[in-house]
Amino acid sequence: MKRVIVGITGATGTIYGVRLMELMRTDPGIEIHLVMSKSAKLTLKMEHDLELDYINGLAHEVHDPGNIGASISSGSFHSEGMIVAPCSIKTMSNIASGNTGDLISRAADVILKERRTLIVAIRETPLHIGHLENLTKLARIGAVIFPPVPAFYNRPASLQDIVDQSCMRMLDQLHIHLESAPRWGEKGGVAAVGQKPEDVAI
Ligand SMILES: Cc1cc2nc3c(=O)[nH]c(=O)nc-3n(C[C@H](O)[C@H](O)[C@H](O)COP(=O)(O)O)c2cc1C
Repeated sequence: MKRVIVGITGATGTIYGVRLMELMRTDPGIEIHLVMSKSAKLTLKMEHDLELDYINGLAHEVHDPGNIGASISSGSFHSEGMIVAPCSIKTMSNIASGNTGDLISRAADVILKERRTLIVAIRETPLHIGHLENLTKLARIGAVIFPPVPAFYNRPASLQDIVDQSCMRMLDQLHIHLESAPRWGEKGGVAAVGQKPEDVAI
């Protein structure tokens, strides 16, 4: 069983974290641990109709962002790694400086100290030099800096295509290669956003 920690922060693009979990749910060999910040829940309400219960239901275990004693805050909790998507400037800066006062930054710091894979889907633009310095620091201590920047060579036809492309690339970083390439509503393919994997006809 592969364990993956997903952190969702209050940057815009909650859908990236949600979609990552929906995609990973197509593989029964993956166990998902979710931690969502308080700001993430606020941003979610503003940009999506998805219910929090639905999102929590995608994870095998949901951790309270204030629960610094959760399993994922210990190095003895083994996982393939962690993806913070989307990652706010606040959380990115906290991780870069070792300021681990909440569970997302603590779990991320643990991943780095244990030399596992941390993927930081930073979402802000434009970036000032303070952001860039923190990102450089974070890259130096081993994180994968992964701004979810769309590609166009694959001719995305929808927002879903754009989100999925970034998510698949993030999962590549964890050596998770899902069998079916996600295609909106395709029979036997991956479910669309908000659609449970088990509801897709195969
Ligand atoms: C609708 C909305 C969009 C936001 N977008 C971003 C963003 O793209 N990047 C960012 O760094 N912060 C963004 N913020 C601000 C963060 O939510 C805020 O800095 C928060 O304190 C981050 O806390 P967290 O990292 O604990 O989730 C946004 C806030 C709202 C309400």
